[in-house]
Amino acid sequence: MHLAVIGLSHRTAPVEIRERLSIPEQTMEVSLQQLRADDQVLEASILSTCNRLEIYTLLRHPELGISAVGSFLSRHSGLGVAELEPHLFTFHHEEAVAHLLRVSAGLDSLVLGEGQILSQVKKMVRLGQEHRSVGPILNRLMNQAVSTGKRVRTETNLGTGAVSISSAAVELAQLKVGQARGLDQLVSLEDEQVAVVGAGRMARLLLQHLAAKGCRGVVLLNRTVQRAEQMAADFPALPVQCRPISDLDHCLSTCSLVFTSTAADEPIIDATRLGPLNRRSSLMLVDIGVPRNIASDVSGLAGVQRYDVDDLQEVVNRNQEARREMAQEAEAMLAEEARLFLEWWDGLEAVPVLNRLRRQLEDIRESELQKALSRMGPDLSSRERKVVEALSKGIINKILHNPVTQLRAPQSRPQRHANIRALSELFDLHEASDEV
Ligand SMILES: NC(=O)c1ccc[n+]([C@@H]2O[C@H](COP(=O)([O-])OP(=O)(O)OC[C@H]3O[C@@H](n4cnc5c(N)ncnc54)[C@H](OP(=O)(O)O)[C@@H]3O)[C@@H](O)[C@H]2O)c1
Repeated sequence: MHLAVIGLSHRTAPVEIRERLSIPEQTMEVSLQQLRADDQVLEASILSTCNRLEIYTLLRHPELGISAVGSFLSRHSGLGVAELEPHLFTFHHEEAVAHLLRVSAGLDSLVLGEGQILSQVKKMVRLGQEHRSVGPILNRLMNQAVSTGKRVRTETNLGTGAVSISSAAVELAQLKVGQARGLDQLVSLEDEQVAVVGAGRMARLLLQHLAAKGCRGVVLLNRTVQRAEQMAADFPALPVQCRPISDLDHCLSTCSLVFTSTAADEPIIDATRLGPLNRRSSLMLVDIGVPRNIASDVSGLAGVQRYDVDDLQEVVNRNQEARREMAQEAEAMLAEEARLFLEWWDGLEAVPVLNRLRRQLEDIRESELQKALSRMGPDLSSRERKVVEALSKGIINKILHNPVTQLRAPQSRPQRHANIRALSELFDLHEASDEV
């Protein structure tokens, strides 16, 4: 069995590719079933976020399994394997474990140490369990990733400072408004007419950061106005006007800064919609949706500046240095957690061979016991029979004690594999299929 992760992220693929692979929660069950339908895929779990699509999997055979997952990604995205391949990464075994722990700790995030990724890893665990696509190995790994993510955030300073994609989006707007005024610095948003489209988790964080950055008021548009109103009630110090999303055109005409953060799977703003509107002379659009909420064709319209999640890199680079130092504190913790998982997994590799050894010894014990009992004749009392039987069992358990303890004890992988091989050879324990 082979552990691997195959995927792409903001490090390897632009948003126009990532959005083709995004898998919303509603279709996750079907995707997991499709993956598991392949004979090569023993366990599978999918992490789909705005910045990554990663498939963690236990494969029967590394090359055949990875090719099966590659075909799934190609079918799902509608992109050819050759077109997709330059954007994909594959990590095996120890590297796959280390990668998931880094992701869960927020060390692989665009905004280093952001907290949302841990909730997304938890969601992956829940969906994998609900849809029964994971077994003992991935279950253990993913739970370890969640506890590692929590540990890093409580035992280091990485989780402090409430950083997120939303905070970076607000900073990007502050930077761009500043640059439009000829300043290369973050400026207050107090003079901007601001709208936020969407009232989900990211919109909530947008409101939090807008309030903190001096914004004087926000128009909050959502499909379900009631949800927007409930959210607005949590920001008593920030004047929030809640409107239905049908007021979007009016908002695009009157506002100077619009953030979009909906989970719509198609753009809700494009050049055809925006072009004919009687707008202000300049309109800044910051889109954190993936798939994107704003089509790229609006960038061609006069006075319109459009930014998406990939543009956040500019602000992220400005304040990553301090966080990078904090991230180093977490690295030792990750190495320790990875070692714990790998030790557990390595110990598991010995289970099939130990099971076969136990069965073999048990068969010998049973047949020798029967021979001995028949030689002893019918006069043997039931108590004497029990004593002989217990003696035979005791001998087997004593013989098994050392190999079981040795093979389960912490040791290097080559050492453990050499021990497993030696035991298999000496007792002729080879079998076509190994069970864990
Ligand atoms: N969660 C993260 O960490 C994160 C990070 C970066 C970017 N993003 C991206 O940000 C977007 C929002 O994520 P979220 O976590 O805030 O989602 P969420 O909490 O599930 O909220 C989804 C929002 O989208 C609205 N919506 C859904 N379908 C829509 C449609 N067809 N038309 C208009 N509105 C629609 C919902 O409106 P109703 O209330 O009416 O249902 C709700 O306001 C997603 O594209 C996501 O990929 C998320």
